[in-house]
Amino acid sequence: MHPEFWHERWSSNRIGFHRDAPLPLLATHWPALGLAAEARVFVPLCGKSLDMVWLAERGHRVLGVELSELAVRQFFDERGLAPAIHDTAGGRHFSSGPYELIVGDAFALQADVLADCAAVYDRAAMIALPPDLRRTYAATAWRDLPPGCRGLLITLEYPQAEKAGPPFAVDADEVAALLDRDWVVDVVERRDILTNEPGFVADGVTALSTAVYRVARRG
Ligand SMILES: C[S@@+](CC[C@H](N)C(=O)[O-])C[C@H]1O[C@@H](n2cnc3c(N)ncnc32)[C@H](O)[C@@H]1O
Repeated sequence: MHPEFWHERWSSNRIGFHRDAPLPLLATHWPALGLAAEARVFVPLCGKSLDMVWLAERGHRVLGVELSELAVRQFFDERGLAPAIHDTAGGRHFSSGPYELIVGDAFALQADVLADCAAVYDRAAMIALPPDLRRTYAATAWRDLPPGCRGLLITLEYPQAEKAGPPFAVDADEVAALLDRDWVVDVVERRDILTNEPGFVADGVTALSTAVYRVARRG
């Protein structure tokens, strides 16, 4: 999936993936991770997600990475924040209060950028990518997170032959294949959401679930 695909989605405001409220599954499952309030949370492929606001309201610092500068500027504009901006080899950093969002490629972050992230939150990131890029993503951003890092990964499961992604279906076997080497992965919830997603029904999808995984980086 070419970066131009995402830039075009943002410039034409075709951002159906963006939710106007934090994801309820985040509030349900985050507290059980037992993270310190000051823990820094990595949010890959962050868009302008309000989940970052929810995390910051819990006291966390948030490190997002996002290809689209438009998305990042909108995130700060919509909060009435005027971020400081500086450029590094890994991208353009926008910082204000608890938020640091990097406009750049999540597969090309410098390893030290992630070194002090105690947590990771992936909603609509893994499932935004086709299979080859999912492998790249797992082998770069996820591999560079430090031992002890904990978090949540939220996926969709549906018969891929019934609809083209994104969002793509990513099942438990694939999550294990991608992450088991470096992470302890436990599914904590799997919920049928087909009736909540009329777009999928209209496309002829016959089964749709969301799965929530708790992940912990092996030491
Ligand atoms: C489906 S959206 C999800 C956004 C956000 N996680 C949310 O829940 O609203 C995927 C986002 O990933 C961004 N993206 C895609 N490939 C990327 C990459 N290699 N590095 C950083 N961001 C990327 C896109 O621009 C898009 O905003």
